[in-house]
Amino acid sequence: MDKQIFGQVDQYISDLLLPPDPVLDDTLKSIENAGLPAISVSPVQGRFLQLMVLLTGARRILELGTLGGYSTICLARALTEKGRLISLELDPRCAEVARGNINKAGLGAKVEIRVGKALDLLPGILASNEGPFDLIFIDADKPPYAEYFDYAVKLSRPGTLIICDNVIREGKVLDPRCEDELVQGVQRFNKALARDHRVTATLFQTIGAKEHDGMALAVVK
Ligand code: SAH
Ligand code: DHB
Ligand code: MG
Repeated sequence: MDKQIFGQVDQYISDLLLPPDPVLDDTLKSIENAGLPAISVSPVQGRFLQLMVLLTGARRILELGTLGGYSTICLARALTEKGRLISLELDPRCAEVARGNINKAGLGAKVEIRVGKALDLLPGILASNEGPFDLIFIDADKPPYAEYFDYAVKLSRPGTLIICDNVIREGKVLDPRCEDELVQGVQRFNKALARDHRVTATLFQTIGAKEHDGMALAVVK
């Protein structure tokens, strides 16, 4: 089967299910205009994230890695009136672009972006009483994914859903000699996840508009 079919089917799904969405379209444009990388979740993956919020009834969401706020908007839109989302972002330029998009989406009151290295910000979130979170989306830099996940579990309650993006990397995770530090980060994370008795977890492959990749889903016991 040629790879084109995956993109075509993804387009078929978006045409069928996703209504025109000027806010998300403008978000992607703002990311391009700011010279930021085109690595937001795809529209269909955004719908998946939205569904996960609806399914869990999440009221408190933590996100690692905001970029231009695309996934943030998909997650936050599914929150109820009292729901809140905190998103951690290293790059102040990204945070600024994202804040603009989030405000345009009418989600400014629900979403807080904190600027800094996630590993520097997480201890403060743990020490304060901001948790537990109902849903945590990990999508920042890949080398510390195992550490991020450990924090995520500590910031959870039984039943919390943790979702991690980019855990398959075009199947490069199969290569134990791969020298790409992104791949090595997710290989280390995937192994740690498999041994982690605090959660029930799976990995699934994602294909479509983005390169062949995958997400981890873990529910805290
Ligand atoms: N979740 C976004 C995409 C995130 S891309 C979406 O789907 O719309 C990854 C983001 O993580 C980038 O914006 C990058 O600046 C940020 N990042 C990289 N290293 C980080 C770190 N140490 N702490 C927090 N964010 C980081
Ligand atoms: C990269 C990061 C992502 O979060 C993503 O979804 C795709 C690619 C990257 O850093 O290459
Ligand atoms: Mg990602």
